[in-house]
Amino acid sequence: MKQLEERIKQEGRVLGEDILKVDAFLNHQIDPELMQAIGATFAQHFQNDKIDKILTVESSGIAPAVFTGLALHVPVVFARKNKSLTLPDGVWTADVYSYTKQTTNHVMIDQRFLGAGERVLIIDDFLANGQAVAGLLDIVDQAQAVAVGAGIVIEKSFQKGRQLLDDRGLPVVSLARIKAFRDGQVEFDS
Ligand code: G4P
Ligand code: NA
Ligand code: NA
Repeated sequence: MKQLEERIKQEGRVLGEDILKVDAFLNHQIDPELMQAIGATFAQHFQNDKIDKILTVESSGIAPAVFTGLALHVPVVFARKNKSLTLPDGVWTADVYSYTKQTTNHVMIDQRFLGAGERVLIIDDFLANGQAVAGLLDIVDQAQAVAVGAGIVIEKSFQKGRQLLDDRGLPVVSLARIKAFRDGQVEFDS
């Protein structure tokens, strides 16, 4: 998506070896028009897949997920990060390990909002090591729902996540694919 690549070039900042900060339009300040264009693009890719529901993880997946849900006219459910020590009843759960933060998040979705046979599209802001999407796939399995595909705003192709999802046979659509960071600059897969 040309428009997204331009924004990454103009406003993205490379931190260290492998982190891209995009807090000017996605992760802190949000550009609604860009998110709407992103949602429309995902919707176009998955328009013939009979999607019933969008799944994402709080917080940064919510903006692109909501605009995708708007374009496909389906509800959006975000997995919550459980911060309390006790687990509420009636939830599907998964552990999501973050390499970036070196912490494990326990994410959960109320069983009322995901059930057997529902066709699910997973949306997230970044694909790095793939642990967030893997956690959502785990939840989809528990619910006996069907994962139809994943829409990723920014994929870092040099990390492990893409291979992990390919190995599972999940169709992945990424709107910007980053091949490498070199001298603080972003190089895209063409
Ligand atoms: P993974 O899900 O692909 O395994 O990602 P990883 O554990 O490496 O990353 C953990 C968190 O950092 C996730 O957000 C993920 O979206 C985000 N992340 C990964 N790589 C980048 C990057 O290059 N830039 C930015 N800005 N974020 C990245 P999270 O912890 O779930 O937090 P939230 O922001 O969604 O609340
Ligand atoms: Na995220
Ligand atoms: Na994030």
